[in-house]
Amino acid sequence: MTDLSNSPPLPAAPGVINRADYRPPAWLVPEIALDFALALDATRVRSTIRVEANPAGEPSSLLRLNGDGLAAREVLVDGQAHNDWRMDGGDLLIDLPGAAHEITIETLIDPSANTQLSGLYASGGMLCTQCEAEGFRRIAFFPDRPDVLSVYSVRMAGDKAAFPVLLANGNPVASGENADGTHWAEWHDPWPKPSYLFALVAGDLVATRDRFVTRSGRAVDLAIWVRQGDETRTGHAMRSLIASMKWDEEAYGREYDLDLFNIVAVSDFNAGAMENKGLNIFNTRYILADPETATDADYDAIESVVAHEYFHNWSGNRVTCRDWFQLSLKEGFTVLRDQQFSAAMGSAPVKRIEDVRILRAAQFPEDSGPLAHPIRPDSYQEISNFYTATVYNKGAEVIRMMTVLAGLERFRKGTDLYFERHDGEAATCEDFVRAIEDGAGLDLAQFRRWYAQAGTPRVEVSLTHAGGTARVTLRQTVPPTPGQPDKLPMVIPLRAALFDRTSGTHRGEELLVLTETEQSWTFDGFAEPPVLSINRGFSAPVAISSPASSADLLFLAKHDDDPFARYEAMQQLVVQHLVAAVEGRLGESERDAGRRAIGDAIAAVLADPALDDLMRGELLILPGEAYLAEQIPAVDPSRVHDEREALKAWLGAALGAQWRALHDRCSAVAYGLSAESRGARKLKTLALVFLAAADPADAAARAKRQYDAADNMTDRQGALMVLCGLEAPERAAALADFHDRFAGNMLVIDKWFSLQAGSLHPRAIEHVKALAGHPDFTLTNPNRVRALYMTFAANAGAFHAADGEGYRLLADLIVRLDPINGNVAARCVPPLGRWRKVEPQRAALMRAQLERIAAVPDLSRDVREQVTRSLEG
Ligand code: TRP
Ligand code: ZN
Repeated sequence: MTDLSNSPPLPAAPGVINRADYRPPAWLVPEIALDFALALDATRVRSTIRVEANPAGEPSSLLRLNGDGLAAREVLVDGQAHNDWRMDGGDLLIDLPGAAHEITIETLIDPSANTQLSGLYASGGMLCTQCEAEGFRRIAFFPDRPDVLSVYSVRMAGDKAAFPVLLANGNPVASGENADGTHWAEWHDPWPKPSYLFALVAGDLVATRDRFVTRSGRAVDLAIWVRQGDETRTGHAMRSLIASMKWDEEAYGREYDLDLFNIVAVSDFNAGAMENKGLNIFNTRYILADPETATDADYDAIESVVAHEYFHNWSGNRVTCRDWFQLSLKEGFTVLRDQQFSAAMGSAPVKRIEDVRILRAAQFPEDSGPLAHPIRPDSYQEISNFYTATVYNKGAEVIRMMTVLAGLERFRKGTDLYFERHDGEAATCEDFVRAIEDGAGLDLAQFRRWYAQAGTPRVEVSLTHAGGTARVTLRQTVPPTPGQPDKLPMVIPLRAALFDRTSGTHRGEELLVLTETEQSWTFDGFAEPPVLSINRGFSAPVAISSPASSADLLFLAKHDDDPFARYEAMQQLVVQHLVAAVEGRLGESERDAGRRAIGDAIAAVLADPALDDLMRGELLILPGEAYLAEQIPAVDPSRVHDEREALKAWLGAALGAQWRALHDRCSAVAYGLSAESRGARKLKTLALVFLAAADPADAAARAKRQYDAADNMTDRQGALMVLCGLEAPERAAALADFHDRFAGNMLVIDKWFSLQAGSLHPRAIEHVKALAGHPDFTLTNPNRVRALYMTFAANAGAFHAADGEGYRLLADLIVRLDPINGNVAARCVPPLGRWRKVEPQRAALMRAQLERIAAVPDLSRDVREQVTRSLEG
């Protein structure tokens, strides 16, 4: 072995990777051939790579091949046995004499022992891969970074009875059988790709097939592979796939580029799904659906995740990321694309409201806590921790703002240019922004700060009126975040309208683009002070502070022609009331007046004949506890919970007759997938929710009837959700019935766990403890872990128990799960990291649990990073 004096210098802080340190790879790998001898507990991998010195890189004779837990059984260079290599941590280093070589390395891996579900792993007797972000290095030694693009040829052989189906990326080339009961297949993917998009599946699967003809006439064979028995539940996923393929042609001019598109559904999966070229791999929960086992929300999630992964074929695969700091390049853009698709498939206003609700519930807390980071982070220790609501959902909002600034038509010119310029490349966020600037004709110089600065900007609005002129003044502040104490002003495009109080109309929408710390706009011709509707359509991902009176909010809730703004006025009406109540700023008469105003607004929504029921449901949903808690410093989460429940109870009682009438009306609507039928189901359970808070006995009886009459999962789950929160005799029987009825259906049993972990029941925390010991519970299935613990952590009433028991439960889980699956364990840390936002006693209890986790030796890099940042930030 040689002394490698030309090793690169060690990074300044060990374990921290900085965006500024990016260097092009010294070596490229134009081709790779992989040969697998498959078996569940011992798979032999032989990889042959052609390496070439990168003319654009700094010349180095040293080739670094990343590995994670691999041992090389044999290393050949240019066909000759080679001993001049060494290990550096998990990586294999070879010193090479020339500028082009062929290297073959053989390794042996044990998929059945791979509980991390990263790399090649076993799930229910089948073998499958998950390589994003850095899983390929758990399969073969390779420069495992997204700017190394290779053409893949894959050969695999295995027992025909155990693995009758053998799949990989691209096209099947050849296959055959051996006399010893094994068979083999060869696949070739003509499109160069980074290693994170490699995929292989071997198992006993059945396919549902269809076909799509692209607009230029390419016939594409579509197949969705599932376990025997599940093939009756793939129809919705297949319809969603076909609709996505068509929509991407029409909306973005993007056509599919292979003759085959395979999807495989697997039960054990760390994330939602994965966009591997030509072979998407999905969590079963985003594929399988039928009316008896999947809710309307499940149907929507399937449609959007199938579309998301398909859209990655262009935004992610044809144009990929230079390095993982650019993750939002593919994820933010692809989330925007899937949101636009879902909006086109159903109700666009309802979809927009749902997306904003997710942003506020998941991303706003991230942005205001210790884990805050820009959509393009500057450093990380473990990249898996950056698959966040910020990179995904705020990333989508940032690109959506470009559509607001440019208009959809010009934005499309920008994306056309982006795809044309960077096809086949590993690109950066900067490349994307420049293509939109050039193609759409925008100047995004200052706008780029959205990529660099973390934190949710706050915009203070004031409206004055004098001498027929209305003046709108906007003032922005961007809060400090970890590592970013001082911020510069952002570009904030706010769609706005000024309403005439008497006519209830406005004269057209304005786009107010705030670029300075403070700016004013004047509008003439208003005899009376107008009502301001601002951030219509949620045109910018900011928090608006507005002194709007409840009279103005009631006006907008009734008259605003922008559906999002109407929803927002309803939300603000409730937020203002509940925040004041939690902060103890309401006297009895003010509390009564506030409740009555909300009650009147809700009664008007219930009675408005112009609303469709899906939208009506949005206007009736109270703001969530997490979003409310965000607005209150040093919050006592139990006060938020209690005040919100008290308002629900008041509304349930005050509008009791209306809720009962609504439940009756909606119960008479037959099951179907039309908007009318779905709207009825949404309102049916919503009515039960309000009734349950006011009149538990009546609600329990109604819920029981809804449960017994249910011919679909939306009604059944909704009824059981309400029963789960009540100390009612109907509760236990319904839970037992549900478990028996769906025994063996993993996805529905997940719901059974979730309903109890997320319930309003006063003893929910005890239920969670008991469920952790239930025979159906396991730490090795991420869906099951999330169903129990992530649902529990989002259930503020239970998780924030004053004695800290909820925090202890979650910390116990993290410590036990970490050695099994560090990726999933790390995703459970953020709820404990909110301690700075919470009142001091609970904050101390949360910190204590973080410190307890931090003291555990040998934590995964994933959990170590999240816990450290949560304590420091
Ligand atoms: N790229 C996937 C997506 O569509 C995300 C993903 C799949 C992922 N598997 C993962 C992220 C494993 C982290 C770990 O968004
Ligand atoms: Zn994605």
